[in-house]
Amino acid sequence: MERIIETIDLTKVFGSIVAVDNLNLVVREKETFGFLGPNGAGKTTTIKMLTGFLKPTSGEVKVLGYDMFKNGKEAKEHIGLVPDQYGFYNELTAVEHLNYYAALYGIPKTERRERINEMIDLVELTERKESKVKEYSHGMRQRLVIAQALINKPKLLLLDEPTVGLDPRGSYMTRKLIKKLAVQGLTIFVSSHLLFEVEDMCTRVGIINKGRLIRVDSIKRLSEELREKVGIYALIECVELNNEIVDNVRNLKGVRDISVDKNTLKIDIESSGIIPEISTAIMQSGGKIKKVNEHIPNLEEIFLKLTEG
Ligand SMILES: Nc1ncnc2c1ncn2[C@@H]1O[C@H](COP(=O)(O)OP(=O)(O)OP(=O)(O)O)[C@@H](O)[C@H]1O
Ligand SMILES: [Mg+2]
Repeated sequence: MERIIETIDLTKVFGSIVAVDNLNLVVREKETFGFLGPNGAGKTTTIKMLTGFLKPTSGEVKVLGYDMFKNGKEAKEHIGLVPDQYGFYNELTAVEHLNYYAALYGIPKTERRERINEMIDLVELTERKESKVKEYSHGMRQRLVIAQALINKPKLLLLDEPTVGLDPRGSYMTRKLIKKLAVQGLTIFVSSHLLFEVEDMCTRVGIINKGRLIRVDSIKRLSEELREKVGIYALIECVELNNEIVDNVRNLKGVRDISVDKNTLKIDIESSGIIPEISTAIMQSGGKIKKVNEHIPNLEEIFLKLTEG
């Protein structure tokens, strides 16, 4: 499949900070690629280089085969960008705003109205299209910026943390829109610091930390492997605990580790299937179980685990 984005040893240094460190990345046609990393990881710096706003210290960026810093004009024609920060002319309506950008892109007047309405419907702002942007909610503004980024029919859409600051509903609507665009065949590169969002939207994910790409994989394989690494815990609260109970549980097959916090056993287990066996062992050792809980780490916790230190 066609390579829409390719970076070769892409590096950006600010003084003594290596913001992006020898990044080698390929994003293929029609995939939704999640670029996941904590604050300061280098996401925005990477996106600025991918879109030609920032010149790399070294390395290359190719978009649709064009070298961004040699044939930037050709490359940029096919890119739509939703930046992490943006401003509006607050007195304009959504239609006026999009008309301004459509004109800027040189879309002929005869085609503009249809294109603008199409975009407004797509981002579900139809009812409010004649309202001034200053009357819009944060979520509505975010969707308007997405419409703006799409006005020129790009082949690649880049979004820099598009759900930051949105409430759960706004975040949901933005993700729903991104998924809809993916179904329509757009290639999407989206950064985030939230694993569950990437899991929801993306087919593949690259994890970046301190400027380095630490992992690229399908979201499915990645989450499976991480779960395996971080483990699943059984939390069993007993009325009274003693060393014999703890030792007996520790010796069971499938128990990887055990720790005690007051009257609760935190047991690192290979799979939830052995919880009944653990319960039996506790009772046979004279323990009384008050509560059994299973703790499966969510991707957020797994991610913190992976990037800590
Ligand atoms: N113009 C600049 N001058 C100096 N340092 C910069 C500049 N831009 C970014 N940096 C540094 O580069 C590193 C990466 O920053 P970047 O904004 O790319 O991270 P990010 O992953 O987008 O973080 P966030 O999640 O907070 O948006 C940080 O250490 C940041 O301080
Ligand atoms: Mg950023």
